[in-house]
Amino acid sequence: MNSAVRRIGVLTSGGDAPGMNAAVRAVVRTAASLGIECIGIRRGYHGLISADMYPMTPRDVNGLTARGGTVLYTARSKEFMTPEGVKRAADNCRFMGIQGLVTIGGDGTFKGALALSKHGISVVGIPATIDNDIACTDYTIGYDTACNTAIESIDKLRDTMRSHERCSVVEVMGHKAGHLALYVGIAAGATAVLVPEKKIDFQRDVVERIRSARLRGRTHFMIIVAEGAGPVTDVVERIQLETGLDVRLTVLGHVQRGGSPLVRDRVIASRMGYTAVQLLAEGKTNRVVCVDGGDYLDRDIDEALAMEKGLDEDVYVILDALMAGA
Ligand code: F6P
Repeated sequence: MNSAVRRIGVLTSGGDAPGMNAAVRAVVRTAASLGIECIGIRRGYHGLISADMYPMTPRDVNGLTARGGTVLYTARSKEFMTPEGVKRAADNCRFMGIQGLVTIGGDGTFKGALALSKHGISVVGIPATIDNDIACTDYTIGYDTACNTAIESIDKLRDTMRSHERCSVVEVMGHKAGHLALYVGIAAGATAVLVPEKKIDFQRDVVERIRSARLRGRTHFMIIVAEGAGPVTDVVERIQLETGLDVRLTVLGHVQRGGSPLVRDRVIASRMGYTAVQLLAEGKTNRVVCVDGGDYLDRDIDEALAMEKGLDEDVYVILDALMAGA
């Protein structure tokens, strides 16, 4: 392709997610293959405001597919939330000759990209967050690895819970959404799963499930709570009070954001990075790269931000049936 675009920038913003580095690598390498120079911007929008950036060559991104975190660092910039901050960031883009920007992150990152596009900067967003809570796409980079990280810990917890005949309450991340908890719950074979999207009857959906599983001979229990469905300490107290079980709380926390990305995240990140650069090279702007079924497509950022993502109902129905039959 003969692109009029000669230089683009790439940044990561918001909470980091395994696979962000693979996306950065794909952006740099795809740009190089099209004769486009790529500038790495450190610490998200903060780096745009402070002009903290450096040219990234294909060699600079060697071996990045396997690395967790983000080599570009990440931040949530308060200054960028102000009109002056956005203007300064856009002015710096122009001053540095950055004609297009790939922004990798979640909803907040896309809001920032939208603000920049209103100042005439071409932007394409790549969805990356372990929460998988971005409505315009079936999948966000990092989700699969985070689910697996959580499962690895929960499998270990189960061993000790079984030995002591205890009840384990595990809080998983997910911000205000329950996608992570839903998948982790089904994969862990949980007794009960609490997600913010579903109002539950605590007696029926938690206490009774523990009781009936106990009657059927189960001696240990695994309860998964999405952080948005908390406070998790209340869940622990109520279970202890109503069942008399020995309950232990584990908050998995930021460990879920770390680790080497799994194949799914490496491949999806690479495909999204490639697609983002193609879009900029074609002169497109104000787009988010999305996965829809098996297809990679792009949507308008305004349209993407206005969409709402519900829980995967089919999976929830299965989870509910499996928990009821435990
Ligand atoms: O969005 C990713 C996420 O890890 C959420 O699951 C969590 O609520 C939040 O970020 C934690 O953010 P921080 O890095 O500010 O602790």
